[in-house]
Amino acid sequence: MSNTALITGASSGIGMEFARVHAGKGGDVILTARRADTLEALKAELETEHGIKAHVFAHDLASAGGADALYQDIKSAGLEVNVLINNAGFGGIGAHVDRPLDNEQEMIDLNIKALVTLTHKIAADMVALGKGKILNVGSTAGFMPGPQQAVYFATKAFVNSFSQAIDQELRSKGVTCTVLAPGYVETEFAARSKMEGTPLAKNGATARSVAVYGYNAMRAGELVAVNDPKLRFGVNWLIPLLPRRLVLKMTQKMQTPKTN
Ligand SMILES: NC(=O)c1ccc[n+]([C@@H]2O[C@H](COP(=O)([O-])OP(=O)(O)OC[C@H]3O[C@@H](n4cnc5c(N)ncnc54)[C@H](OP(=O)(O)O)[C@@H]3O)[C@@H](O)[C@H]2O)c1
Repeated sequence: MSNTALITGASSGIGMEFARVHAGKGGDVILTARRADTLEALKAELETEHGIKAHVFAHDLASAGGADALYQDIKSAGLEVNVLINNAGFGGIGAHVDRPLDNEQEMIDLNIKALVTLTHKIAADMVALGKGKILNVGSTAGFMPGPQQAVYFATKAFVNSFSQAIDQELRSKGVTCTVLAPGYVETEFAARSKMEGTPLAKNGATARSVAVYGYNAMRAGELVAVNDPKLRFGVNWLIPLLPRRLVLKMTQKMQTPKTN
């Protein structure tokens, strides 16, 4: 019986650790991101260390047709996806009107459009099989609006919401969908998002701990998984009760680099 996981954004951070966790449990992996050389190095590592089969399909998932081309590659190779981990994503600090519009749109294309495309196609295959596991990487950012990163927070609100609805639609068909909502994690994300120097980008969790937490939650069929207990309490019991303006000001402050 095949146990193959498709992991997007496997060339660094949490995605690379998801691949290591799944391969460590003896599952085959399909690795995707843009950096083919990094994916090939990970493939060699996983095949040597765990005796599994790793497949590499490098794609720009933010580009038009990128996610469709990935799905086509998987089909052409005759592979069956049993676990889908939609992890690829990026953010970007700055006021929306000051940020390049094309970068904001690229964020929506990757964080939302590619995730929806892969969920739509692969979940349909899973329903036909009568089983499957989906893990979408949202964020605690998805539980509140995020001035200074308005589009990123909104994309993650989409992922948090979409994933729960998909779980409700598919659970009776043998397919579950878990959303992992981490707080700050030490990866390439902060540098790519230009978050370094902001109060938010400190004391992060390790990518490994977050991947293990999310993977186990997915296997258990949990609906929403927040890895940090303090953040879990905050997003569930504190933030919904605070005045909206206060939340907006706090979030803005957390994402504004400190000037000494
Ligand atoms: N780090 C955090 O604090 C944090 C907190 C909450 C949620 N998250 C979420 O966790 C997920 C993983 O982020 P991370 O922290 O591990 O960041 P990361 O180290 O920057 O990894 C992002 C991954 O996405 C891939 N990617 C970026 N643009 C892509 C594109 N156009 N096409 C295909 N792949 C692309 C990158 O690979 P290539 O560059 O090779 O394409 C990389 O493998 C993201 O969805 C992020 O929003 C992160």
